Amino acid sequence: MVQKFVKKEIEALREALRYHNHRYYVLDDPEIPDAEYDRMMQQLLTLEAENPKLITPDSPTRRVGAPPLEMFQSVRHELPMLSLANGFNDEEIREFDRKIQRMLGIKGPVEYVGEPKMDGLAIEIRYENGSLVRGATRGDGTSGEDVTANIRTIKAIPLRLREDAGTIPARLHVRGEVFMPLAGFKRLNQERERAGNPAFSNPRNAAAGSLRQLDSHVTAARPLDVYFYGVGIVAGLTFTSHWDILKTLPKFGLKTNPYAKLCLGVEAAITYFHDLLKIRDDFPYEMDGVVIKVNDLKLQKQLGEVSRSPRWAIAYKFPASQEMTRIEDIIVQVGRTGILTPVAVMKPVVVEGATVSRATLHNQDEIERKDIRVGDWVIVQRAGGVIPEVVRVILSKRTPESRPFVFPKKCPVCASPVVRLPGEASHRCMGISCPAQLKARLRHFVAKRAMAIDGLGQKLVNQMVDKGIVKNFSDIYHLTRETIAGLDRMGETSARNLLDEIEKSKRTTFARFLYALGIPLVGEHLAQVLADHYGCFDALVKTDESSLLEINEIGPQVAQSVQTFLATPENLETIQRLFEAGVHYEETSKNEAPLSGEVFVFTGTLPGMARDEAKQIVEKLGATTANQVSRKITCVVAGEKAGSKLQKARALGLKILTPEAFKAIIEEKV
Ligand code: IVH
Repeated sequence: MVQKFVKKEIEALREALRYHNHRYYVLDDPEIPDAEYDRMMQQLLTLEAENPKLITPDSPTRRVGAPPLEMFQSVRHELPMLSLANGFNDEEIREFDRKIQRMLGIKGPVEYVGEPKMDGLAIEIRYENGSLVRGATRGDGTSGEDVTANIRTIKAIPLRLREDAGTIPARLHVRGEVFMPLAGFKRLNQERERAGNPAFSNPRNAAAGSLRQLDSHVTAARPLDVYFYGVGIVAGLTFTSHWDILKTLPKFGLKTNPYAKLCLGVEAAITYFHDLLKIRDDFPYEMDGVVIKVNDLKLQKQLGEVSRSPRWAIAYKFPASQEMTRIEDIIVQVGRTGILTPVAVMKPVVVEGATVSRATLHNQDEIERKDIRVGDWVIVQRAGGVIPEVVRVILSKRTPESRPFVFPKKCPVCASPVVRLPGEASHRCMGISCPAQLKARLRHFVAKRAMAIDGLGQKLVNQMVDKGIVKNFSDIYHLTRETIAGLDRMGETSARNLLDEIEKSKRTTFARFLYALGIPLVGEHLAQVLADHYGCFDALVKTDESSLLEINEIGPQVAQSVQTFLATPENLETIQRLFEAGVHYEETSKNEAPLSGEVFVFTGTLPGMARDEAKQIVEKLGATTANQVSRKITCVVAGEKAGSKLQKARALGLKILTPEAFKAIIEEKV
């Protein structure tokens, strides 16, 4: 009596788990939270452990993996698993259609089914009286490997057929493709790399490697999925068309690809191919083409097969996204910001219809990780259909002449030193006047918070560089009315204003000057820190890395950056020329400057004075400025409409000045 009750409960749990499994893995539409599913599974496991006699092989608990095998048994396919002829362009598909019309003696359009061609591996699964009894790989088409234990771990494959379709057929051998979705593939490779295992080169290899595991626990941990696309032996059920098969299998819980489409006539099938090709990269898995199949099963039978491929189907392949070529050279490009990027120069090869001859190799670590050498044969691919990348080296084709790449010590554009700062992936050019970086560097140099040359925007800077008027920072201070008169939109007044601004900018602060130089990693704040510490450029130039490291806030990266920058003769030359051109600042040391040690925050508007101007004034007097109110602030200048900063300053009990009081103080100190 009790036993009967337990059996009923076990069956109810199995039924519920199968239902939710189907919702989750096949329909992609879960109904209950994962925790609830886990709880039911745990309950079933407990009941089965207490009643081992009631365990059946199709119980949802039996997916977890079986004891490892010594080797795979061979399985003979009752009906051979055929392969497909390939077509590569529209004309070949039309030819396939003409042949079919001829053989069948049909004049009108033939009805086809178009289906995505999944890039994974083919399997056949046998269901007997609704239970999964065997799963095999395609192998050579006649016999494959018995991977039943592994197949059982794939959640999208039902261990028992669902009964939504009515009667369960006595025998149903289904065929489909096991594949690994891209997201799972990326995750798996990341995990493997973290664990020091070699990464899989593509999702298909990953799927094949995962399914052909002697230990099914390994397969169970891999993100595999499936789409069914055909049947072998069927008993107790008849199908009339391929479309009928694709619509019926899901009723048994067997997933078919929702992107399959009925196409009346070959042109519709060709359109289907091109439509899918356009959205190929949006799919969460890889496809290598579409399969075009005659829909009517009677016609399929009539057409038969030739050399192990059916005459009623053809694979219309997408253009390959991976090709093989040779690396002829590795060159280095210098970006706007001074970052050096190694680029592979390859023997041109057509990938997905576009000629590829260059691919970024990103940085030194990436080259070493992939062990890419000049002279190597490599696989290139267009990732996402656009940017070419080197996937990997074909090591078996490597010759003794192949040369490892050595990063240049000097910038290929300006010959300044190249450094890789501690903790950074990239190499950088340290040249202050490097032509590759000049526009970006100048833009930074003249910016408001740097030398503050108002009216010298990006467009003007670009023109000056393009016309060769400005080749380094100091050239700005030698501009004349004549030289700038020839620039676009540069009238008499604008020219005079610009020259006035340039003249005004000569008087600056050491911190602004340092910031303007654009030393890598030295932003506004660190420039201030260095200026406070050294007071003038001569003192900074004389320093060394270890003294720099003694300064609070300066770490090894910044220290090395400053050190290398200042050890570059061309940089010192440019800086010297800036001083000669009249750039100057008050040499401040902490004790001399009237506002030294003060930290100002400005909030609200100051009548008759821009905030940047106010900041500049106090900085020239030796103070530093900040944007946020904190305990470190010594003085808050609160203008009109001061808001939360003022409130916070009050709460912290900081010194607060009105704009009038502020003006009085600076007038007194100047
Ligand atoms: S039909 C006789 N349909 O392509 C028909 N195959 O080159 C045989 N494949 O071994 C297969 N997606 O691994 C068919 N929707 C699809 C497919 C598909 C992928 C693979 C399958 C087969 C190979 C044939």
